[in-house]
Amino acid sequence: MFIGGVSSLCVTIYIILCLYTVGHGKKIISDTKDDDESDSKSLTFFYNGTVSPLANLSSIIFRNYDSGVRPYCTGEQEIVDLSVDLAVRQLIDLDEPNQIVTMNVWMRLAWRDCQLTWDPNEFEGITVLRVPYSRLWIPDIALYERVSDEFYGLKDYPVQLHADGSVEYNFPSTVQVVCNVDVTNFPFDTQVCPLQFSSWTYHGLHLNITSNNMAADLSNLKENVEWIIRGGPAHRRVSYFNSIPYPYPDVTFNIFLERKPRYYVTNILVPSFLITCIAILGFLLPVDSG
Ligand SMILES: *[C@@H]1O[C@H](CO)[C@@H](O)[C@H](O)[C@H]1NC(C)=O
Repeated sequence: MFIGGVSSLCVTIYIILCLYTVGHGKKIISDTKDDDESDSKSLTFFYNGTVSPLANLSSIIFRNYDSGVRPYCTGEQEIVDLSVDLAVRQLIDLDEPNQIVTMNVWMRLAWRDCQLTWDPNEFEGITVLRVPYSRLWIPDIALYERVSDEFYGLKDYPVQLHADGSVEYNFPSTVQVVCNVDVTNFPFDTQVCPLQFSSWTYHGLHLNITSNNMAADLSNLKENVEWIIRGGPAHRRVSYFNSIPYPYPDVTFNIFLERKPRYYVTNILVPSFLITCIAILGFLLPVDSG
């Protein structure tokens, strides 16, 4: 009798727990849905069983769009201004014997695609649309002196479109480039590792590369045990190649790495100095001084 009462109590608690978990799960799912569309002010994705305003907008602006060609609209300037910026997140390794630096960076590309504009008043006040990178034209940014196979991340993340046609493409990447290491002043040395970005196929009259900030953003930096990143100023350069009459602009970020000398001072410099002093003293002191 008593045992039967306990077991039915257990069953009741179990059922209540199950119901609670199910309810909770539903709640979490609906929360994430709301977060996703926070830009479009409480629009629900399934709009009374008809097409959602975001999908409507996307289908209208991409109707005659060809993602394979550069943005070019009649009556507008032909040149596309591309801004290349980056934030250094972490220095992973500076391999001195092989002269290779590996860094985690956040790339920030910005340009304007004149074909992807809309009037927010016609589309329920939507001002930002995020679409997969494959839907639209992405500049072919190449990182010079790269050692790893690919520019990881360049074709992985959604792109942000704004109503005026401006496009922001931010993605995290790991870059591995050649960096000439000069250890003349070791362990009080500073190394400069250049990250040079340029378009591989477009010349400067079609794709003009600049940088809005002209310096790497170091505000999200994670500390490295051996190196301090002192700064990352950028400069823009225009090159001309043999018998090609077009300019080729590029932007180079010079990442300044300063070695933390403390480890080498306390473990190598000070002990070897003391041992040298003892050797000299042993030579100079009289033998019978004790
Ligand atoms: C899509 O947007 C256009 C322009 O605002 C509007 O005329 C049209 O009715 C919308 N279509 C749907 C299915 O909401």
